[in-house]
Amino acid sequence: MAKAKLQFVCQNCGAASPRWQGRCDSCGEWNTLVEETAAGGIGGGPGRTPRRGRIVELVPLAGASDDAPRIASGIAELDRVTGGGFVRGSALLVGGDPGIGKSTLLLQASAALASRGARVVYVSGEEAVAQVRLRAERMGVANAPVALAAETSVEDILATLDAGPRASLVIVDSIQTLWTDTVDSAPGTVAQVRASAQALIRYAKQSGATVVLVGHVTKEGQIAGPRVVEHMVDAVLYFEGEGGHQFRILRAVKNRFGATDEIGVFEMTGGGLREVPNPSELFLGERNAAAPGAAVFAGMEGTRPVLCEIQALVAPSPLGTPRRAVVGWDGGRLSMVIAVLESHCGVRLGPNDVYLAVAGGLKIGEPAADLAVAAALVSSLTGVALPPDSVYFGEVSLSGSVRPVVHASARLKEAERLGFSRAVLPAASVDREATKGVGLEGIDQLSALVASIAA
Ligand code: TYD
Ligand code: MG
Repeated sequence: MAKAKLQFVCQNCGAASPRWQGRCDSCGEWNTLVEETAAGGIGGGPGRTPRRGRIVELVPLAGASDDAPRIASGIAELDRVTGGGFVRGSALLVGGDPGIGKSTLLLQASAALASRGARVVYVSGEEAVAQVRLRAERMGVANAPVALAAETSVEDILATLDAGPRASLVIVDSIQTLWTDTVDSAPGTVAQVRASAQALIRYAKQSGATVVLVGHVTKEGQIAGPRVVEHMVDAVLYFEGEGGHQFRILRAVKNRFGATDEIGVFEMTGGGLREVPNPSELFLGERNAAAPGAAVFAGMEGTRPVLCEIQALVAPSPLGTPRRAVVGWDGGRLSMVIAVLESHCGVRLGPNDVYLAVAGGLKIGEPAADLAVAAALVSSLTGVALPPDSVYFGEVSLSGSVRPVVHASARLKEAERLGFSRAVLPAASVDREATKGVGLEGIDQLSALVASIAA
């Protein structure tokens, strides 16, 4: 038999190299290359004769599809992010920092589905059966008919699934603990994670069950990244939260069967995760409206309007190069807003440190936040608090003009519902919006906003 060929695989991005090197050529990470046996098992090792292909059945595209392609979990915030429930025969990856609540969320979803009669198999590779039971008791779902196992061997898991009644949902927690006989490397390496995920994804497609893989992400990228798995699965959900906050946000970063801009909001309580159907109330809950430097942004997360507070602190810098720090927004976008304020509105932020944060651990990706960011910056610089009953939204262009944004009426309705009586928005959006309870102040140049705050 031919000798198995050695290769070095980056544990961060999965790129293979024939030699060991300190830095991965592909992703630039240091000390991530680990020795692995090439083509371990899956495609047939070197020297093995390739298998003759089987003739697969070709079907017309216009054929009838299954009538119930999705199973709703019963947890509305989770279903919102998946696009209406788990798709049969699909594979999902739920990623997040250790301890953020992935196991809690999935155990809760398992219990909810199992209680409604679906067969749910929960395989834990990290916790013993007794530990999972203890957690379920704490969450008050211990009586749900979930089939439970503590197992890490992929072959054993698949044999068990094949032998039992057909499952609708299979949770595997976590992908890093699994190992398969077909690969020689240690559990947790890219080769093992890739091969294990592949086997489970194949099972999902063949059986029609939804397979949910849990993956830990560490900042150091020490554990074989679920990054390799991201390309293989149908949907990738990230569970995020800020240290010290009880809020957790579930976000789809990839979804073959739905939108990727919806978020699900949860609160971690002593009895598991609680859904937060009105995130605006939560994000504005701890607001100190009288302080300068805070602006309420009327944003959109997918199809849902979400109001949140944007906080800025502008302070004289002791450093030659002032600091710019951002939490929850894009740093490049902040630099742009600062540049526009400086060159078109006569606002001198240059020698100051600038800190910007979105309250509550929310991450905003919309350019519509430009106007609220500008308002918060000017308010902090001048020490003038913004009117507490106002919301802000609008995109700022490099020329200093304020551009209209989508869903203006949904944003205004949400502002009205939460008791805001004034909105500063792009002038072009004003004519079309007729919201009774909110006074509209349309502006078409950022300088008009600056003048109104300083006045
Ligand atoms: P867990 O779901 O184990 O996180 P992960 O699977 O992402 O590693 O959640 C762990 C944290 O959640 C832990 O710090 C305890 C906390 N927790 C609660 O606050 N309330 C609960 O009801 C449960 C089950 C966990
Ligand atoms: Mg866990």
